Amino acid sequence: MTQSIDALFEQDRAHFMHPSTHAHDHQSGALPGKIVRGGSGIRIEDHEGRQYIDAFAGLYCVNIGYGRTEVADAMYEQAKQLAYYHTYVGHSSDAIIELSSRLMEWAPAGMKKVYYGMSGSDANETQIKIVWYYNNVLGRPNKKKIISRERGYHGSGIVTGSLTGLPSFHQHFDLPIERVKHTVCPHWYRKAPTGMNEAAFVSYCVDELEKLIKREGADTIAAFIGEPVMGTGGILPPPAGYWPAIQQVLKKHDILLICDEVVCGFGRLGSKMGAQHFGIQPDLITVAKGLTSAYAPLSGVIVGEKVWDVIARGSQEHGPMGHGWTYSGHPVCAAAALANLTIIEREKLVENAAQVGSYFGAQLREAFGSHPLVGEVRSTGMLAALEFMADKEARKPFDPALKIGPRVAAAALQRGLIARAMPHGDILGFAPPLVMSRDEADEIVGIVKQAVDEVAERALTDAG
Ligand SMILES: Cc1ncc(COP(=O)(O)O)c(C=O)c1O
Repeated sequence: MTQSIDALFEQDRAHFMHPSTHAHDHQSGALPGKIVRGGSGIRIEDHEGRQYIDAFAGLYCVNIGYGRTEVADAMYEQAKQLAYYHTYVGHSSDAIIELSSRLMEWAPAGMKKVYYGMSGSDANETQIKIVWYYNNVLGRPNKKKIISRERGYHGSGIVTGSLTGLPSFHQHFDLPIERVKHTVCPHWYRKAPTGMNEAAFVSYCVDELEKLIKREGADTIAAFIGEPVMGTGGILPPPAGYWPAIQQVLKKHDILLICDEVVCGFGRLGSKMGAQHFGIQPDLITVAKGLTSAYAPLSGVIVGEKVWDVIARGSQEHGPMGHGWTYSGHPVCAAAALANLTIIEREKLVENAAQVGSYFGAQLREAFGSHPLVGEVRSTGMLAALEFMADKEARKPFDPALKIGPRVAAAALQRGLIARAMPHGDILGFAPPLVMSRDEADEIVGIVKQAVDEVAERALTDAG
């Protein structure tokens, strides 16, 4: 390394426009940066040689953990043999053919084909184009609206940013677009009217969906998109019975179901995908992140038989579909995905996610179930969150200006632990690599306890 760290940071501030970053504070230096230089297992190492436990697996994506040279080797071998060729007009590579068949073993029944992209956002953009194309081929030009959910996250493009149900992704961008409508977020703890139990809350969510469909007209609604467990909206496992009840409504109104498995797919919930976990029968599935454990950028749209048949018919009537990316089905990314899936299968990481995830959730409940700052502890597989409340009994949140979630995350970081202050509410989120052991889960809970305790006393006094 020829440059000093200070000079590197200066260049970073001068020329790198970071995603999801306070532009002014980064450029001025008020926001301290971090250069990440290495990692192994669930830990990363920064420019000072300091190690951190990454309890969020990057952005819930490094599922096999850091430093797996087996994946790097597979990418290297593929790049040496064939670094790139396009996949337009029927061109293919050995790696992408193998991957497409392999994905059918991970997906629920009824899936047929995979279209590839590079990110969750571009895959969801493809989803919406497919759904619009589908209804045009079927001669239903008005059936185009998409229902998403408040606090859902589906990306930050123009359509996908619209699908995302978080205000900060809409404000100042003139979003959401007209064709996207949001229904209620299925978070019983914060969204249920007072006194309503979980079963009644499921009926409430169904009623809200039915009302929206009635208001808009079922003949104008093409699809419903949802994450099996909401991630960025706050790590929100749905109440029991939610998915079967929602699916019934969608079937009744001939509305396609897009299951966004970008976070939940490939073992995070302790099942192959969220669809199998909750008994969801999607028409279309989005995958990314865990497909390669982020060793290379790759996403997929898994198309079910029903939709595929219409796409095939469409090409006979209108010619090839006018949709494609230069890097669709990139062979080096496919090689990374194959090596990643081999590791997940060989090391039984889906089972580990179920077992260690359930242990982690239990330890969090034990440590925080009756903690004065923590209103709710929630978890499914290797996804978990603590939601902080000013008044637990009254379910009264803190004034957002107090930044309780970010303060707890900062206190954890000081102790060498990365957990994510989620963007909506005072929520500390966990999505550790699926390789996490019980001992590592204990270590994380111990650090979080110190961090929460440090913030609690001051915060509860401030809140009065
Ligand atoms: C459920 C879900 N869908 C889509 C996306 C968008 O993926 P990307 O950031 O790769 O565009 C994300 C990203 O976090 C996600 O969590």
